[in-house]
Amino acid sequence: PQVCWLSPEQTAGKQKPYMYTQGQAVLNRSFFPCFDTPSVKFTYSATVKVPEGFTAVMSATSWEKQKDNTFVFKMSQPIPSYLIALVVGDIVSADVGPRSRVWAEPCLIEAAKKEYDGVIEEFLVVGEKLFGPYVWGRYDILFMPPSFPFGGMENPCLTFVTPCLLAGDRSLVDVIIHEISHSWFGNLVTNATWGEFWLNEGFTMYAQRRISTEVYGLPYTCLEAATGRALLRQHMDATGEDHPLNKLRVVIEPAFCLFLGVNPDDTYNETPYEKGYCFVSYLAHLVGDQSKFDAFLQAYVNRFKFQSITADDTLGFFLEYFPELKEKGVDSIQGFEFDRWLNTPGWPPYLPDLSPGQQLMKPADELAELWAADGLNMEAIESVDIMGWRTYQLVYFLDQVLQKSPLPEGNVERLSKMYPKISKAQNAELRLRWCQIILKNNLEAEYSKVKDFLQSQGKQKYTLPLYRAMWAGSEATRALAMETFSATAPQLHVNVQNYVKKILGLQ
Ligand code: BES
Ligand code: ZN
Repeated sequence: PQVCWLSPEQTAGKQKPYMYTQGQAVLNRSFFPCFDTPSVKFTYSATVKVPEGFTAVMSATSWEKQKDNTFVFKMSQPIPSYLIALVVGDIVSADVGPRSRVWAEPCLIEAAKKEYDGVIEEFLVVGEKLFGPYVWGRYDILFMPPSFPFGGMENPCLTFVTPCLLAGDRSLVDVIIHEISHSWFGNLVTNATWGEFWLNEGFTMYAQRRISTEVYGLPYTCLEAATGRALLRQHMDATGEDHPLNKLRVVIEPAFCLFLGVNPDDTYNETPYEKGYCFVSYLAHLVGDQSKFDAFLQAYVNRFKFQSITADDTLGFFLEYFPELKEKGVDSIQGFEFDRWLNTPGWPPYLPDLSPGQQLMKPADELAELWAADGLNMEAIESVDIMGWRTYQLVYFLDQVLQKSPLPEGNVERLSKMYPKISKAQNAELRLRWCQIILKNNLEAEYSKVKDFLQSQGKQKYTLPLYRAMWAGSEATRALAMETFSATAPQLHVNVQNYVKKILGLQ
């Protein structure tokens, strides 16, 4: 399952085949022999010979092209197995900063350069200021073919990203900031087991939003965090709060037979991200002073860099670093026990204050309210000009509309006509929400948009929610699901294919 071989039709250029690897969580064991656990770190080198007209790139510190289309790579820092990655394809690169370039198929390279020219360095500099030296040398970005199952993957020196990020307006740059944040949280300080995946992702969400706050300000960052909280709400509603995967510390049992055990890949959901973010925010809240907490994060990275650790190590170091908090017994405040955070499923006991985002969220809340009303107050609706809204403001608005759906008869049709900026959007985050709204409101006239969107890309976090919504809907949406899946299955990543099959009862 690890090495994905794509036919020319599955690439953007449609001329040449392409291959890529995706290691996280436990796929690299089918790529090369290794101790495939995040608790073991090692350096590596690789020699890759490719056919004429192809280029190979890897998550490595240095690379060199030798004769006979042979590429030699060397990663000189110790990394866990899941961070080794390889791509071979018809790809080219363009510089976007002093230590950064973008890689993409030739037909996408101009768009890729335009999207991120001159912006990456600032994120790295802010990250270094907050969390300490960037140790990986280069930070390059590779735009993957549309079927890449993730928004981004933090392969060291060379982040892989979905081409959906090519929105033309940098609006989805939070994904890049997220992957850059893994340079400290995840790639330097690594979860020792996949049962504590939140150590990677929760700290990374926190670091991402710290960088975002420095670069874009608190209101915008709170707005983005609010859309994250909405995802956590949706996830917990869909799975039930008490689901065992809604703990930060997941029990990963070995599989003695096919039906027992938990595959680490199956623990990928919003809980380690957004509940993890809440827990780290809670730790910051206990400290009470942002600059002191920032200093703690930097000391934490320095203490555990190039190591693999458990949450006990993290929390032990936290209490050691803040002895006055240890003395106060902050690890056992009733209702907020560290143990409860780690081992109890459900909604986070503490939520960070996102009210600085109100200036951006309130107009969206009010507009959603208007659209959910029985008799539409068109005058009030028309007085709101959404043309100047940022993408995440529209996303937030659509999440509110979705939550209130199904809307009274006819409202969604009018909304669709009134805002072509939304209903005809090319931006993937907007398309996802619009498709969810179409399905929740049985807007049959626009069902084809769901199929088109699912055909255009294969990101897991877009694909699964839409199939779940189709399967939970009517006869017609179930038929749409089947029809869409038979058209797109071969181009999906094998993991994603299997998850969809499960949703559709095919497995
Ligand atoms: N490391 C993850 C992607 C991943 C997780 C791959 C688990 C395989 C197994 C990556 O850093 C990530 O979190 N990507 C997010 C970005 C988002 C949170 C900004 C994604 O793909 O959506
Ligand atoms: Zn991540």
